[in-house]
Amino acid sequence: MMIEKKGLKDAYSLKTPEDSINLYKTWASTYDDDFARQNDYRSPIEIAKYFEKYSNHSNTPILDVGAGTGLIGEYLNLIAKEIDAIDISPEMLNIARTKNCYSKIIEADLTQQLPINDNQYGAIVSAGTFTHGHVGPEVLDELLRITRPDGLFVFTIHYKLFKKAGFDKKLMEIEKNITKPIFHEVDVYGSNPDKDNGSDKVIITVFRKI
Ligand SMILES: C[S@@+](CC[C@H](N)C(=O)[O-])C[C@H]1O[C@@H](n2cnc3c(N)ncnc32)[C@H](O)[C@@H]1O
Repeated sequence: MMIEKKGLKDAYSLKTPEDSINLYKTWASTYDDDFARQNDYRSPIEIAKYFEKYSNHSNTPILDVGAGTGLIGEYLNLIAKEIDAIDISPEMLNIARTKNCYSKIIEADLTQQLPINDNQYGAIVSAGTFTHGHVGPEVLDELLRITRPDGLFVFTIHYKLFKKAGFDKKLMEIEKNITKPIFHEVDVYGSNPDKDNGSDKVIITVFRKI
């Protein structure tokens, strides 16, 4: 049987959490190679780099949100300890598990109440999850709930969605609960021939919970 190659077009056209489960079920085993390596996908290493720049020793444990196959964990593990992964796709998490960089692996839907107590995490990191067809700004409320005061957020927002999906408004709505956000615009890919999305950028958003 011929397996159709999955890619950005499929990912960006998702509509529901169930769509994510179905897409990543079939993509998980090849994602690191046919997506990340072949396109020189840079968001995970950029997140690790900015985490290193802004974090301090109290920013632990760390939760990798929409961790997928664990690409952030692989980089972050070199500079930080106690990293947990959360994702809706068991198949993506199974690949992440093989990398031995996460202390705990949580299968959950970020758009629902999370099975995590208040004030558990010292940091939230995320790459490629606040994007087309995945999750939107409303998820930030639950992430703030599970993060300790002074906890650090370092996560990508797809640049085309920053205003369109209302991240700008959400950051204003929660402004009393967070420090003034710092933004870094970075290229998602070193080289990706995709004519529609190959030159995509993300806005790496950094703040602390007050
Ligand atoms: C493009 S992948 C990014 C994975 C990894 N962070 C990376 O940078 O390679 C997006 C991930 O978000 C997860 N995801 C999508 N919708 C979700 C939801 N509602 N709850 C939890 N995870 C979700 C998918 O399962 C997938 O693993």
